[in-house]
Amino acid sequence: MPSIKVNHLVKSFAEKNAVNDINFELGEHEFLVLVGPSGCGKTTTLRMLAGLEPATSGDIFFGEKRVNEIRPKERNVAMVFQDYAVFPHMTVYENIAYGLRSRRAASSLIKERVPKAAKTFRIDHLLQRKPRQLSGGERQRVALSRAMVRDADLYLYDEPLANLDAQLRYQAREDIMALHKEKQSPSVYVTHDQSEAMAMGDRIAVMRNGRIEQIGTGAELYERPNSLFVAYFIGTPSINLFEADVAAENDSLFVRTPAFSLQLPEARKSALQPYAGRKIKVGIRPEDLHVPRMAQFQVTEHNQLQGAVNVIEPSSTGCAVYMSTLESTPQDFVATLRTRMPASYIGKEVPLAVNMDKMHFFDLETERSILAN
Ligand SMILES: Nc1ncnc2c1ncn2[C@@H]1O[C@H](COP(=O)(O)OP(=O)(O)O)[C@@H](O)[C@H]1O
Ligand SMILES: [Mg+2]
Repeated sequence: MPSIKVNHLVKSFAEKNAVNDINFELGEHEFLVLVGPSGCGKTTTLRMLAGLEPATSGDIFFGEKRVNEIRPKERNVAMVFQDYAVFPHMTVYENIAYGLRSRRAASSLIKERVPKAAKTFRIDHLLQRKPRQLSGGERQRVALSRAMVRDADLYLYDEPLANLDAQLRYQAREDIMALHKEKQSPSVYVTHDQSEAMAMGDRIAVMRNGRIEQIGTGAELYERPNSLFVAYFIGTPSINLFEADVAAENDSLFVRTPAFSLQLPEARKSALQPYAGRKIKVGIRPEDLHVPRMAQFQVTEHNQLQGAVNVIEPSSTGCAVYMSTLESTPQDFVATLRTRMPASYIGKEVPLAVNMDKMHFFDLETERSILAN
């Protein structure tokens, strides 16, 4: 049974729909991440779940119960806000204890829980300080501790790590995941950072203009994006996109640009056949470009393209090679290789093999994936 269910949720401010018909279910132990660019409606969605913002229309269910009219305090939701919202006049200890006290928890429980939560987020040595005596990172961990100290039915996080530097962010991410493992309560976590979403979410909902574009596991979104937007939003470096002609020749289909001609695999022919003679957008993930002799598939003249090497950026697993296509108006693209490329290749032209089974295809007008139905 889903623990949380959201049906046709809408929120309008004046004439604008900040949230425009959102639907999702959240499993009993699930950690769902809402990800999308600034202004797409993430915070508004969370605030409606918490009860801080009334929905314009639609339903929110916690279990069997419709909670639209239930006040925030009775929803038993713990929320971590982007701007921390810690109380400046209270000590760290009192800040963390606040949620428990306001729910009249027994003092023995407070004494037990507060130091434990503080320890989890490594601020147990700061319990007597006031927020102004803390760094931004420490203040954020006070806000996290305050939310986690309670046994809430739902945990909501609004970009809680956005203001931390990289090192602290990774650490806090681990802490949140560890706590989620322990509590197992349903959680909705908001971020604009797709790599954070990929690292944390059991499932991820990609939002755009108040709607959910696609919801699925990280692997599903990465391997089977249903739109150009999702394909481009998920994955670093971003997917390479080319406008191409679909050409039928004898019994084969090709995607062609001035720079390359690639033959489509049998399994893709029926989906692409209706586009013969038309233009589409093709997407090739940087990791689906390979040094020909290292490719795990048979390399022919019909699954290779050429590029000029501009920049080589070493990584822990190999390197990212920033290249340009060979045509009168060259187009930039990037390949991530599982091998090092010597700097002597800079400025040279190299062939790369394309894993055609992993190629993505998008309708130019609708921007929907041609493979998704
Ligand atoms: N209280 C409000 N009054 C008017 N417009 C708002 C209000 N809150 C949010 N919005 C608008 O709704 C849209 C979504 O905002 P928000 O949910 O904060 O986006 P996100 O958290 O994804 O950045 C934005 O265009 C924002 O300007
Ligand atoms: Mg926001």
